[in-house]
Amino acid sequence: MSLTQYKGFGGASLSADMLGDENDPAVLLVPDIGQRRAMWRDVGDALVLSGRRVVNLDLRDDAGPAEGRSLAPYVEDLRAVLAQMGSRPVVVAGGRGGWIAARALGLDGAHLAAGLVLVDLPVDEQGSLDDVAARLALPTLVVRGGLAPVNDDTIPNAFDAALPLGETAHIDDCDLALASDRKEALLGQLLEFLERHQPREAMEFKAGSDPRTLRDAMGCFATGITIVTALGADGAPVGLTANSFTSVSLDPPLLLVCIANSAGTAPTLRAARHFGVNVLQIGQQPTSNRFAAKGEDRFANQPWAPGQTGVPLLGGSLVSFECQHESLHEAGDHFILVGRVVRAQFEPHRDPLLYFRGKYRRLHFA
Ligand SMILES: Cc1cc2nc3c(=O)[nH]c(=O)nc-3n(C[C@H](O)[C@H](O)[C@H](O)COP(=O)(O)O)c2cc1C
Repeated sequence: MSLTQYKGFGGASLSADMLGDENDPAVLLVPDIGQRRAMWRDVGDALVLSGRRVVNLDLRDDAGPAEGRSLAPYVEDLRAVLAQMGSRPVVVAGGRGGWIAARALGLDGAHLAAGLVLVDLPVDEQGSLDDVAARLALPTLVVRGGLAPVNDDTIPNAFDAALPLGETAHIDDCDLALASDRKEALLGQLLEFLERHQPREAMEFKAGSDPRTLRDAMGCFATGITIVTALGADGAPVGLTANSFTSVSLDPPLLLVCIANSAGTAPTLRAARHFGVNVLQIGQQPTSNRFAAKGEDRFANQPWAPGQTGVPLLGGSLVSFECQHESLHEAGDHFILVGRVVRAQFEPHRDPLLYFRGKYRRLHFA
């Protein structure tokens, strides 16, 4: 994360946190009037994980005396920031920040932004929520019930600027008031809107392209993470992090993992009569890192116990499969190790550690 200063109306300095990869499509977060950019912190972090560049902006501190306060400086600030951005972002505005964004994007908004999301826009005396959104000329999502209610009587509810009239654009509308987890529900709506109105460029792998691109393509398949273990000929435990795990057959009970021929543990896993597959839960991210890193004593400080067949099983896993070597298939620079499950111990109430597009993830319920 880095901090940037934008130049607003009349030379005002506006702080913004920049998060994520600058090549990803941008989302500009605008807080409620009277709130700081911290209100969007969690949403910003989640958007970065979903492959978005996030600009989390603070509004100016002082917009003049509270009596007869004008929205105009805020509106001009936002238009100035949008003009300084390298690409057209989707603007997400919370509460009265939506008044600012709706006015800044009202007439020629499509030139400045790819879309607008109004979260809990207060209805002022100028008309209903739908009226406000209906005057915008860019794709707009209106979300109700997305933010925790704020009680701040010091902020006037009426501002003096009228909404410009534009040509009506497509408007989505959703109500999260009954959602049990409003943050997750808001994120779900946001991501769905972003996928539709701010799609990312498609990438392509062709035979002969660089392996990195293939890896990125494969990384679009979300997986869990396992630690594959066995006992070496000297009786010492070995193990490595692997997400190439797949269930294969119920009768007989078979599973597989793909192991790189170059892995230090490969000779032991090729030779072992038995091996273990430990599916990790959310608290075992450090374990995943340790079993993927070179030069680590992977089993030091790692609770484990031998299973019925002697294979090392890691304590606290979501599930530990104990397998008998069934077959081995050479496959390019990996080999496919098929195991017959002789025992599985599992604690299904635990949350899984997930892996997607090269990053750890956690499950969130839709
Ligand atoms: C999330 C993740 C998944 C991985 N999946 C595999 C896999 O399926 N097969 C594999 O051979 N290596 C995989 N690796 C890489 C190995 O864990 C890593 O190369 C490890 O250092 C090998 O250890 P070794 O050389 O001591 O056997 C993965 C690494 C990570 C971080």
